[in-house]
Amino acid sequence: MGACRWTWGVSSWRTFRSLAARRQPAVLLGLGKLLSTAPSTPQVCIVGSGPAGFYTAQHILKHHKQVQVDIYEKLPVPFGLVRFGVAPDHPEVKNVINSFTQTARSGRCAFYGNITVGKDVTLEELQRAYHAVVLSYGAEDNRVLGIPGENLPGVHSARTFVGWYNGLPENQNLEPDLSSETAVILGQGNVALDVARILLTSPDLLKKTDITAHSLEAIAHSKVKRVWLVGRRGPLQVAFTIKELREMINLPGTKPLLYPSDFEGLRDVIKDVPRPRKRLTELLIKSALEKPSEKEAARWVSATREWGLKFLRSPIEVLPSANGKQAAGIRLAVNRLEGSGESVVAVPTGEFEDIECGLILSSIGYKSLPIAPSLPFDAEQGTIPNSMGRVHKVPGLYCSGWVKRGPTGVIITTMNDSFDTAQSMLEDLSSGVVDTSVHKPGFQSLRETLQQRGVRCVSFSDWEKINAAETAKGGEVGKPREKILDLEVMIRLASQ
Ligand SMILES: Cc1cc2nc3c(=O)[nH]c(=O)nc-3n(C[C@H](O)[C@H](O)[C@H](O)COP(=O)(O)OP(=O)(O)OC[C@H]3O[C@@H](n4cnc5c(N)ncnc54)[C@H](O)[C@@H]3O)c2cc1C
Ligand SMILES: NC(=O)c1ccc[n+]([C@@H]2O[C@H](COP(=O)([O-])OP(=O)(O)OC[C@H]3O[C@@H](n4cnc5c(N)ncnc54)[C@H](OP(=O)(O)O)[C@@H]3O)[C@@H](O)[C@H]2O)c1
Ligand SMILES: *[C@@H]1O[C@H](CO)[C@@H](O)[C@H](O)[C@H]1NC(C)=O
Ligand SMILES: *[C@@H]1O[C@H](CO)[C@@H](O)[C@H](O)[C@H]1NC(C)=O
Repeated sequence: MGACRWTWGVSSWRTFRSLAARRQPAVLLGLGKLLSTAPSTPQVCIVGSGPAGFYTAQHILKHHKQVQVDIYEKLPVPFGLVRFGVAPDHPEVKNVINSFTQTARSGRCAFYGNITVGKDVTLEELQRAYHAVVLSYGAEDNRVLGIPGENLPGVHSARTFVGWYNGLPENQNLEPDLSSETAVILGQGNVALDVARILLTSPDLLKKTDITAHSLEAIAHSKVKRVWLVGRRGPLQVAFTIKELREMINLPGTKPLLYPSDFEGLRDVIKDVPRPRKRLTELLIKSALEKPSEKEAARWVSATREWGLKFLRSPIEVLPSANGKQAAGIRLAVNRLEGSGESVVAVPTGEFEDIECGLILSSIGYKSLPIAPSLPFDAEQGTIPNSMGRVHKVPGLYCSGWVKRGPTGVIITTMNDSFDTAQSMLEDLSSGVVDTSVHKPGFQSLRETLQQRGVRCVSFSDWEKINAAETAKGGEVGKPREKILDLEVMIRLASQ
């Protein structure tokens, strides 16, 4: 398991980098062959170690008793959005990490962290080294609004804000401006609710979570008192789910701002909608129109912060401050709806509304990117065209998770579609569509190539050292973990 480490000094590392420029793959492949495992072992590699990667690996390992599964991950640590997306105050969701860890510890599974496929190693190189390759690299980017002022300081994607409070190394210098009273979140999905909740939760509660120390400190000094969640369509089209809404409604120290006029008459309309939507809307109606319970009323009276939903509003421009240097507000176009049900569209009425605010978080969805020029990719949908996880026109190439379906769905949804993909591959292995009689060397053939390129990979046992250090450090201050943000510290821990 996990022997992906090699040691060298800085100077030899530089030499390897320059050598990489004139690398000799043929020679290295030859060497790899000598070192590799028995020819009968099907070699499978998985790109990405989020839920899609791990669930695909789990299913393949469980139902095939010879296969070797190698998981390549861009970040030095595993688990994708379970670590860097799921909100710190939802620790129970992260329990899936336990089963992913069991999978990674299997004798037939290896984790190679800190390797970016498409940069450190190409997709074609993986296809040459393995019988089958699964792309489960998620959605690394976000949809953009495409409106003037979007790039002003004070405007961020929810994706980067989430990365900031969850310790994603690339987002650590975000420094969101929390000095104004009003924040606007564009979009009404569960990510929008996560972000609103983190902005409004008392630091006394947050400090018991694995939120990073640095963001906790910033949030403790935040002046934000009011958060608007802005949707382009109506209350019947919100994308968040009932559990997350209920949590928001019950958030200590806060009160909801819901305009009764948005909900009047909805009771009749929801008679015929599917049950989950009906229950969600009933909760909205209850909160907006009914007299609160005594407990609720007491909380609202003593609330120091508030959050609200604005409907039928599309962002059209970020309004700059007087000196033009930062965001000071947002202009929204007022919409009306055309059509019915989930597929209604928002049409501008010609009216506008401006909201004054210093922080704008755009939470309109994530986006996947292609990682190789040769990869079939639907740029419109941000997905890899596939049938049951088999990438169209490329035998031996598969996909699962958000890059297969698009950036929606919870972990269980991702588990389901990953099992489907794994099933497709198992069928292809047994039917011969994937020819395992041809020898494939797997990781052995790439080890030296990666080394020459100066790539320093992190094994699963390296991660377990990092994990132990994080939980120990968190334990000192009553947190489940304190995430390590400094790559140098990670390297030191890993080489112990
Ligand atoms: C903010 C947020 C909060 C969420 N909260 C919840 C929740 O509470 N409950 C719930 O059930 N679901 C939640 N979800 C949904 C859940 O996270 C997704 O369904 C799931 O993570 C998708 O899995 P995935 O493996 O496709 O993608 P990811 O989890 O994103 O994993 C992809 C992995 O691939 C790696 N990668 C990317 N590019 C490369 C490359 N070129 N080479 C190698 N590796 C690469 C990434 O670093 C990442 O580790 C949340 C989503 C978000 C965005
Ligand atoms: N606690 C949890 O279980 C949890 C937490 C976080 C995330 N998740 C899951 O992760 C997935 C991703 O969540 P998400 O919130 O990023 O996505 P989402 O659920 O797809 O929500 C996106 C929101 O952005 C809006 N939007 C999209 N394009 C827009 C535009 N151009 N202008 C204005 N608004 C626009 C959408 O409105 P329209 O409907 O009008 O397009 C919708 O309200 C979801 O499946 C979610 O349930 C789950
Ligand atoms: C997952 O698959 C099972 C069995 O096919 C199904 O019953 C369940 O509804 C699916 N869950 C999700 C969230 O897709
Ligand atoms: C990740 O690899 C890069 C080179 O690609 C290296 O500089 C860095 O130290 C590695 N990080 C870790 C944590 O090993």
